[in-house]
Amino acid sequence: MGRCPDCGQWGSLLEERVRAQERGEATPGPAVSRATPTPIAALQVAEVGRLRTGLAELDRVLGGGIVPGSLILVGGAPGIGKSTLLLQASIRVASAAGAVLYVSAEESLEQIGSRAARLGGVSDRLLLLAETSVQGIAEQAERIRPSILIIDSIQTIATEELESPPGSLSQVREAAARLMALAKARQIGTLLIGHITKDGSLAGPKALEHLVDAVVIMEGDAHQLYRLLRTTKNRFGPSPDIGVLEMTEAGLAEVADPSAVFVSERPSGLPGSIVVPTLEGSRPLLVEIQALVAPPGAPVPRRVVNGVDGNRAALLLAVLERRVGLALSTRDVYINVVGGVRIGETAADLGVAAAMVSSARDVVLRPGLTLFGEVGLAGEVRAVPMAERRLQEAARLGFSRCLLPARNLEQVRAPGGSLGLVGLRTLDDLVREIGEGSVA
Ligand SMILES: Nc1ncnc2c1ncn2[C@@H]1O[C@H](COP(=O)(O)OP(=O)(O)OP(=O)(O)O)[C@@H](O)[C@H]1O
Ligand SMILES: [Mg+2]
Repeated sequence: MGRCPDCGQWGSLLEERVRAQERGEATPGPAVSRATPTPIAALQVAEVGRLRTGLAELDRVLGGGIVPGSLILVGGAPGIGKSTLLLQASIRVASAAGAVLYVSAEESLEQIGSRAARLGGVSDRLLLLAETSVQGIAEQAERIRPSILIIDSIQTIATEELESPPGSLSQVREAAARLMALAKARQIGTLLIGHITKDGSLAGPKALEHLVDAVVIMEGDAHQLYRLLRTTKNRFGPSPDIGVLEMTEAGLAEVADPSAVFVSERPSGLPGSIVVPTLEGSRPLLVEIQALVAPPGAPVPRRVVNGVDGNRAALLLAVLERRVGLALSTRDVYINVVGGVRIGETAADLGVAAAMVSSARDVVLRPGLTLFGEVGLAGEVRAVPMAERRLQEAARLGFSRCLLPARNLEQVRAPGGSLGLVGLRTLDDLVREIGEGSVA
């Protein structure tokens, strides 16, 4: 079929042949050995030593380094810097800890070599392999027994046992399962690079995310300097967690104070901009949220949302319209989180709302103002977790006034410094505060 009867797209169907053997029809085989239960107290549990990659931000999001025998998926959009990140990690591991096998099914060895030279490292223990067959990779890994194995990328390798093309569901799943077995049997920390589709999901089956021990997503705008590492799953460490890196000529460098970086370029004296303390895992991060409310450019007003969930933004628009009487439904609304950051938590609601109110009413927010809190459908401001951590980060960066949910205010200890705290119960309180805080 040329056209998918479900979604109507042309040329989107791929053929996957299933052989009799795969269907399990021709495998009577020997009697299977059954597992027996073990008392948990009888287990010998040794504290696992983690392998540090030497890239502090990567180690951080992995929960302290790579657990031997674990399978980690590193996903990211094309050109974001996945190969750079893992090649850098490989160079450091090879020069400090042990052998590294870097398998590239995408680039020539010369290309990787020249990248390694730019990243400033060559080591005898870093071995490059241009191979697309899982069996070939497994053979070499068995021979070399590296401390870590890098696969660049999981969508371009294939097992010889299946006829479907690399990148197809069954190939990705089968290849990952093979590598998982290898990783566990030989205690090789294995990192798989995976491409991400335009809509932000990992290309290939969701099953891959279930199979692997950890998923690290690399985000950011390929045209900007900053890259974020985000763990969306981790069996051996806290998640979500976030790391911040900067792309330089010599590779990815750690950013010592990301909050300071994200708010440093903030325009002053303009409406629609606000800084919010977000918390991703254990790390507080100050980010700037911008909104622009403009007369409609077309009969149907546009809504463009970057960096926060589109549904969440739609909900806030409706609440502001209904509860505060802000006329938004007939105007274009643009919302943007600066620096390519994506905020997943509802604590940024109040920030998004404040930016919209500020832009719609053309009032400039005080430069030292920051705020956080969740907004409910009735326009109520709801408490969020870890308020104190957020306040500390805001105080550290010299903010002078923080609006927060009244419930949170009752419970927190005020951080040192000159950060004034104001509790909010409803969006009306927010609008009142913004009115007072304006200088325009
Ligand atoms: N000489 C250089 N100086 C600074 N940055 C560079 C240099 N060369 C490449 N880069 C950056 O490296 C990034 C591409 O890195 P990399 O090839 O690791 O990405 P990738 O995610 O592996 O891409 P792909 O999806 O194509 O495999 C780009 O953002 C580019 O700006
Ligand atoms: Mg690459």
